[in-house]
Amino acid sequence: MTCHFLDIADHDNATLTAILADADAMKSGGKPHADVLAGKTVAMIFEKPSTRTRVSFEVGIHQLGGTPLVMRSEEMQLGRGETVADTARVLSGYVDAIMIRTSRHEILTELASYASVPVINGLKDRSHPCHVMADVKTMAELKAPHHDFSGLKVAWLGDGNNVAASWIEAARIMDFNLDLAVPSALAPDDDLMDMVNGTSIRVVDDPMTAASDADVIVTDTWSSMGMPGGYSNSGDRQELLRRYQVNDAVMAVTKAGSVFMHCLPVYRGQEATAEVVDGPQSVIWQEAENRLHVQKAIMAFCMINGGTGATGAGA
Ligand code: CP
Repeated sequence: MTCHFLDIADHDNATLTAILADADAMKSGGKPHADVLAGKTVAMIFEKPSTRTRVSFEVGIHQLGGTPLVMRSEEMQLGRGETVADTARVLSGYVDAIMIRTSRHEILTELASYASVPVINGLKDRSHPCHVMADVKTMAELKAPHHDFSGLKVAWLGDGNNVAASWIEAARIMDFNLDLAVPSALAPDDDLMDMVNGTSIRVVDDPMTAASDADVIVTDTWSSMGMPGGYSNSGDRQELLRRYQVNDAVMAVTKAGSVFMHCLPVYRGQEATAEVVDGPQSVIWQEAENRLHVQKAIMAFCMINGGTGATGAGA
């Protein structure tokens, strides 16, 4: 069976922990699955711009012995109305895995339904699992070296966007406390709110309540790439979100030794002040680097468990 990586919620704690352990080994110079992409090609389809996702996947594919193939969707027949299903079937005859950054959840699910090779979600309107896996790896490096996250508190401040959604999924499966301080008009979708019930995840209004005693403070741009129509950052949105800015006052109520994370790109003076972004608690560059390591582990997981020539072995 084909093994996709579409969302964190599709995988159990043991699988996610195994991916993180492989990423740790890869980062520290070990060679797990070093040739897993040897002789293989991975297509990367971008409907939206990217710096980190494109470069980290492209470098990671090379490091695992494979060949990356980057395509912009508007340059493909997809941009002229060829169906996603037909595109999936055609590409499956040429390449060994597909990574896609798309504006719509339905495009990702259709691609995965019709592809006979692994499909990886490189961001969609509702989630950004590769990024949040890198965040969880960063949190493990700093706060939970044995991947035991119990007792840790993460606070998300700002827009209840696609990255927030993947944090909710991660907290539920990997068992850490998550407070989200979001304006009610920008709260996560109802299905995610249902997921929160009965867990150690809370959605609160007050940013200081969320930040209080937190080990990790996370935010994201107010003009999220997860937005269906693009990158709107209207005055109304800015007004709604202003109260949720991460600044020195917010960091002051966190736990001693707390860290600041951000998906990037960051807009200093909006979702976070320059003092926080460039301050001593910021771990944003470590977080960005971890995209490379964790995505290599995700690609290895997909190929070993359901790629072309899969052996069926564990990650
Ligand atoms: N955070 C993130 O996904 O970065 P890019 O948009 O540059 O890929």
